[in-house]
Amino acid sequence: MTREQRKWQHVELALRAGARPATSDFDDVRLVHRSLPETAVEDVRLDTMLGGLALSHPLLINAMTGGSTRTGEVNRELAQAAAETGAAMAVGSQHAALVNGQLQASFRIVRETNPHGVIFANVGADVSLYDMERAVEMIQADALQIHLNVPQELIMPEGDRSFRGYLHTIEQAATRLSVPVIVKEVGFGMARETYRQLVDAGVRIVDVGGRGGTNFAWIERERRGDGRYAYLSDHGQSTLVSLLEWQSLQPSLACVASGGIRHALDMVKALALGAAAVGVSGIALRAVREGGAAQLIEMIRRELDEMRVLMTLFGADHLRDLQRVPLVVRGEARAWCVDRGID
Ligand code: FNR
Repeated sequence: MTREQRKWQHVELALRAGARPATSDFDDVRLVHRSLPETAVEDVRLDTMLGGLALSHPLLINAMTGGSTRTGEVNRELAQAAAETGAAMAVGSQHAALVNGQLQASFRIVRETNPHGVIFANVGADVSLYDMERAVEMIQADALQIHLNVPQELIMPEGDRSFRGYLHTIEQAATRLSVPVIVKEVGFGMARETYRQLVDAGVRIVDVGGRGGTNFAWIERERRGDGRYAYLSDHGQSTLVSLLEWQSLQPSLACVASGGIRHALDMVKALALGAAAVGVSGIALRAVREGGAAQLIEMIRRELDEMRVLMTLFGADHLRDLQRVPLVVRGEARAWCVDRGID
């Protein structure tokens, strides 16, 4: 199977995996209601800073695809929605297009469709610094996402088998590239041990990419078709746990919350926990496949509207005020924190 075919299978399987998850760890977070918020919807501001990147609002269309005509069409629709709504957007892994120049059009379309938007390039940690710079130039990206997907590679029969040297590459990228680097997971989450390694490597922005939404252990198991590694289907840290681990370090890292984010309330909870932005992939893909860019535009506008309403409810005029909203965490995430010595 070619890399292009595999990328299309990821799209199809991500869609087959189901609609928004019915339950989420975020249900175990309660923001404390206040009866006198002293706010007004019209005064709420959604602009945010992600590291040094100024975003008009925190909703990010996260990395998915590119590398073929069909995935280029998906990218065009995602980019149209990003341009209309002011959402930042990441392209999917550009690895194939770095090897085969003919595939670059499916990524360049994103910049052509959204010339003034905030766009992130995307590669794995196995590409050279030179290729990382080429990926950024390909779409005149504002930042580079470096994705970490070790479980996915290991479950794939044709996937990588050695992950040595990634940290060194990340360190070089963080210190030498012309744009900020965002190190991101793809749905397995992160923990303090990883954040510490990244901080030491000079990384300033992470995307926790937690468990709870699109599940690449499940997707790759379906692709294998032999049922092996079923026990890895719930491997990794949920997005909530990844955020609590991050928060406990009070690190210098700016943080994107992504993985299974379902709606504006999950977004507001993630922002209250300190995230600077919130990424959605699977639900954005579903929207464009069901109703094209128009449906995704409608979805993003609705979520932003609801975010303003929820911020009013919780007494926050600005995103940073959300971090002062008292909250309670219960359930499995609470138990995880106790076991890991997190307050
Ligand atoms: C992804 N994701 C992804 N991430 C990445 O860094 N590079 C990539 O090439 C891809 N490819 C990809 C394809 C498809 C079809 C999907 C749905 C997702 C992972 C994505 O950015 C995100 O981390 C996870 O999907 C978790 O978020 P959701 O889907 O639960 O909102």
